[in-house]
Amino acid sequence: MGSCFNNSSLACSHLLASDFSRPLKLPKILHLDALEPYMSQRTLEMHWGKHHRGYVDCLNKQLENNNVLYGYTMDELVKATYNNGNPLPEFNNAAQVWNHDFFWESMQPDGGKTPEGGVLQKIEKDFGSFANFKEKFVNAALSVFGSGWIWLVLKTKEKRLEVVKTSNAVTPLVWGDIPIISLDMWEHAYYLDYKNDRGKYVNIFMNHLVSWNAAKARMARAEAFVNLGEPKIPVA
Ligand SMILES: [Fe+2]
Repeated sequence: MGSCFNNSSLACSHLLASDFSRPLKLPKILHLDALEPYMSQRTLEMHWGKHHRGYVDCLNKQLENNNVLYGYTMDELVKATYNNGNPLPEFNNAAQVWNHDFFWESMQPDGGKTPEGGVLQKIEKDFGSFANFKEKFVNAALSVFGSGWIWLVLKTKEKRLEVVKTSNAVTPLVWGDIPIISLDMWEHAYYLDYKNDRGKYVNIFMNHLVSWNAAKARMARAEAFVNLGEPKIPVA
């Protein structure tokens, strides 16, 4: 059976050979120079090639003989290992794998500029203006103490967009909120390109890297789960 990693009867208790895509693979970044000159190839080689790969490798090692966390999607794994605020040993690696997958997709070549359509309307509604949002995002990023992340999320209960910051590996996913954009505020994300000038890094992200295309797609998907307006289909 392909899913058996050790000889214990518990680990061999699955009927199917499916391994639910384990071991996890590091997703490929096709062009490591795609974000030049704003995020250098050298940074991508180190950040994606070493740090992100390290989280994937460590998580695979932790999951190798774990029969309890078998069969989870990445989202479920992050939530399950967060364990309602009492994280299991796998949480940091699982969350950092998720966070980095999400971060790479939060950027694009020739990014920045301004969002369009539904994302822009929702930003204007919830922050007053795009300029207000941008100021709030940048200020929040600069106030992250130590390592962490900054996020634009759709709060599912409040049904509004908010800027939130998290420490270390924590992701808003664990509170049931829907991330729209993220920015890695760990030193390994910016030090090679910007040394300790966090302000420059954050502003470059906002003006040249952030992918509003990704945000637009994520908002559209989020709206399938969070009703931001009146239901259009009458209930029978
Ligand atoms: Fe990172």
